[in-house]
Amino acid sequence: MNTNITWHHTTVTKEDRRRLNGHSSAVLWFTGLSGSGKSTLANAVDRGLHDLGNRSYVLDGDNIRHGLNQGLGFSPEDRKENIRRIGEVSKLFVDSGQFALTAFISPYREDRDNVRALLDKGEFIEIYVKCSLDECERRDPKGLYGKARRGEIPEFTGISSPYEEPANPELTIPTDEWTIEESVQRVIDFLRQNGHV
Ligand code: PPS
Repeated sequence: MNTNITWHHTTVTKEDRRRLNGHSSAVLWFTGLSGSGKSTLANAVDRGLHDLGNRSYVLDGDNIRHGLNQGLGFSPEDRKENIRRIGEVSKLFVDSGQFALTAFISPYREDRDNVRALLDKGEFIEIYVKCSLDECERRDPKGLYGKARRGEIPEFTGISSPYEEPANPELTIPTDEWTIEESVQRVIDFLRQNGHV
């Protein structure tokens, strides 16, 4: 495996692309339980960044599992592979001078740390979308918690499969306490304070 292949260096560098875009590039890694608000928040931050003239793109768990990661399930091994591939795709976005906003449960600390290790310092911004299991179950936007409680979905995060909270995230956004506007502002403030935009 991986024999007879050579890495090609690009003539246009990440720095060239960042200069052209007028901002840095990074991964905004939103992690949290199903129903915690990852997709909603990632999409709202994407809109905010876009409206301020920045290049960004959302990679979302449900959507990616329809295409690129079709065929992967929810066993620990499949989730690991899911996150590994998204980490690699995110790195390509960073190399292309853009912000990748990823909305995946990504329940295992080790898998998230592996993505962090793929990137340069400051390029991985872990955002814990924090919401209690009770509140996520109350929201149950897709009816999945109900199904999981009835035993109709095996290995459901928070019910029959673990979620490991980030130990040291760059940001924690409590979506059961803050409005979406406050949350978006907090993320954009972080990017400004750290010289990303
Ligand atoms: S993971 O753990 O990061 O690989 O999961 P992810 O790719 O983000 O996919 C999560 C979405 O898949 C739906 N779904 C499940 N989630 C958790 N556990 C089980 N068993 C499961 N089965 C299906 C669910 O809609 C998740 O979307 P979100 O947006 O998180 O609610």
